[in-house]
This record gives sequence, C-alpha cells and structure tokens, in this order.
Amino acid sequence: MANQPDLPWIPVRRTAPAHPADWVTGFDVGAVRVATPFLLAPMSGVTDTAFRCTVLEASGAESVGLLTTEFISIELLTRGHLRTHMRLAFDPSVERPLSVQLFGADPQRMAEAARIAVDAGAQLIDINCGCPAPKVVRRGGGAELMRTPLDVARIVAAAAEAVPVPVTLKMRSGWDETLRNAVEVAQVAVDAGAQMLAVHGRTRAQLYSGAPDWQVVDAVAESVPVPVIGSGDLVTAEQCLARMKRTRGAGVMIGRAAIMNPWIFGQIADLVAGRRPRVPGAAERLALVRAFDERLCAYLPPKAVPGRLKQLLARLSKGVEGGGLLRKLAMHARERGALMAEVSAFFEAAEAGTLTSWEAHARRALAEQTR
Ligand SMILES: Cc1cc2nc3c(=O)[nH]c(=O)nc-3n(C[C@H](O)[C@H](O)[C@H](O)COP(=O)(O)O)c2cc1C
Repeated sequence: MANQPDLPWIPVRRTAPAHPADWVTGFDVGAVRVATPFLLAPMSGVTDTAFRCTVLEASGAESVGLLTTEFISIELLTRGHLRTHMRLAFDPSVERPLSVQLFGADPQRMAEAARIAVDAGAQLIDINCGCPAPKVVRRGGGAELMRTPLDVARIVAAAAEAVPVPVTLKMRSGWDETLRNAVEVAQVAVDAGAQMLAVHGRTRAQLYSGAPDWQVVDAVAESVPVPVIGSGDLVTAEQCLARMKRTRGAGVMIGRAAIMNPWIFGQIADLVAGRRPRVPGAAERLALVRAFDERLCAYLPPKAVPGRLKQLLARLSKGVEGGGLLRKLAMHARERGALMAEVSAFFEAAEAGTLTSWEAHARRALAEQTR
C-alpha cells in the first residue's frame, strides 16, 4: 500500500496555481477520463436520469466531470425487480461518463449486480459505504461497511474481478466519533482494486448534522494512489472553487446545491474562464422545470411525477421572490397538470414583472384550498 503524499499521479497542490484553469483539467479513473473535478453527487430519490439531464442542460455537459445514479440495491437488481432496473436508465448521448452506484453486502451478488450495470452501459461501478439509513445498515450495507473493512475488501475485489470498468467507493469519515477510520477503509479498498474514492466528511452517527470534516478528505488523499473526491456542504460556485483550491483531493462532489441550483456547474465553469457566473432568469427557470417535467413523464408512472416536480420546486424556488407562496401552492396541487399551470403562471409573472397580481391570485387560491 502506497503511503506517500507526493506520488506523481496524485494532483497535489500546496500553493494556488497561477490560473485556475491549470488545475481544473480533471483526472483519469482507469481508462475513464473525468474532464473536470466537479462531480454530481449521488442522491437517492433525486439523481435519476431526468434530474441528471436537467443539470447537464442547465450547466452544460462539459462542466460536469462525472454523473452517478441513485444508489441501487444489489439484492433487488439481481432478482430482476423492475423499478430497480429503471434506475439504470440513462441517455447515452449526454450522460457520459456515468457511474452506477450499488449498495449491499454480499460479494457474489455485488459482482452479479456490477455485471448487470455494465451491460446496461455503466462506465464505472461505485460501491456505497456511506448510506446511514437503518434499513440499509441493518443488512450490512452502506455505512455499516465502515465497521467491517474486511467486508469492504471482499466486496470491492469481487466487483473489480467481475467487470472490466473501474470500481470506486463512496464512504463517510467513519462510523461515529470513536471510529473515524476513513483512511483505513480507503487503503483496504484500494488494495482490493478500488480506483477512485469519494469521502463525505461526516460520520454515520452525524447523518447530515455538524460541519463536514475536510481534513479527513486530505488525509485519505495523502494515503492512497488513486483520485480522492471530497463531499459536503458546498453551496455556491465560489465555495466549490475555493474548496478545490485548498483540498488535496482530485475533485469535489456537489449534491443538494445542485437541486437548488442546477446551473452551479456552469457557474463554476464561468468563474474558471474568468466570466461573470450566469444568473438564470424566470424564463430560464420555467424552461428548466418544463423540460424536467417532460423527462419525468417519459419514464415514470404518471402518479410519481407530481412528487418529483414538488421536490425540485421546493429547492429551486428558494431565495426567489414569491417562491414561498409558490411552494405553498405547489404543495396543495395533487395533479400534474394543475401543478404545472401554477408553475407557469408564477414564472411568467416573474418574467413580466407582474408578481404582485400573481400573489393576489395565489393567496385567493390558497384560501380556497384550505377552507
Ligand atoms: C436526498 C439525499 C440522498 C442521498 N443519496 C445518496 C446515495 O444514494 N448515495 C450516496 O453515496 N450518497 C447519497 N447522499 C449523500 C450525498 O451524495 C452527499 O455526499 C451529501 O449530501 C453531502 O453533500 P452535499 O452537502 O453537497 O449535499 C444523499 C444525500 C441526500 C441529501
């Protein structure tokens, strides 16, 4: 196991480069080129093909280094569960490179699931070692693997042997305060064949509370000879760039901020190029929601669409004038057509500068619905 901080293939930056473009050129994971170090984090219930394509459209495909699916159960995938197989759906014309994230604890099933994912088009296989959900942890998967590094080795080795694409791992900083063992898990995983690691700098016990620990990302980056990606609480394009300048890792992942602001990767690219970061107007926001709606309708059962639309709207309308009222109105809408009509009316009013009369309409509509 390599334990040298300055191995030539680790992008090490102790001082800020003369121009950001010098260090935002990305890295390789095996034969897969990750062209920029800004990656979309996997988010269950969010990062399906509709959302990923929406981010690519808003930001520009060239500004996102790597896309990852929501996590996928190896138990359900290998048993042919239809809705689980749908999580493998992607658009090969734009969603490149694409990593499929798998969770579970059984090495043979992991190998079989990895083969299924690669047959479906995955260019990388990512193994989830970070999910804190009790139903995942109870069965030995997700963050539970932080407590059983030997199982990590078995699972990674089985997957790496089964498929010709790189196998990677996403983990937490540890299980809890008493077991902050990300470096140990990282070394075990790389010895077993992992070719990239992502670290969310919180323990399983922290869930999403407290500040993420970016020192652990650096410690992991210095302990393994593969690209290491940091994750946690990057909210603005400026923060992403500042973090990228400081981290010893090869890249950063952006999760929740991409729901609120699918343009964030494009904004980072703007900053890197020395341009003022793009600010989407109301018309652009409406076009984005409509395109997202179309994509959802193309592959989800109709009754699943309003929930996903509300999820995007809940974040997308944050900090936007009148957004609070839109969220309230949207939450009451049961049917997709009615929801999209409210969304259109809101953004069209914002674009035309007639939000005051829209607000009067919205208040009346809300009063009627809650009567
Ligand atoms: C709704 C939600 C779902 C998530 N699902 C996954 C997942 O399926 N796999 C995974 O490795 N991490 C998952 N995460 C963790 C994120 O990838 C990321 O590491 C974490 O949210 C911190 O980054 P952020 O502050 O940029 O969101 C999820 C996070 C959220 C908020």
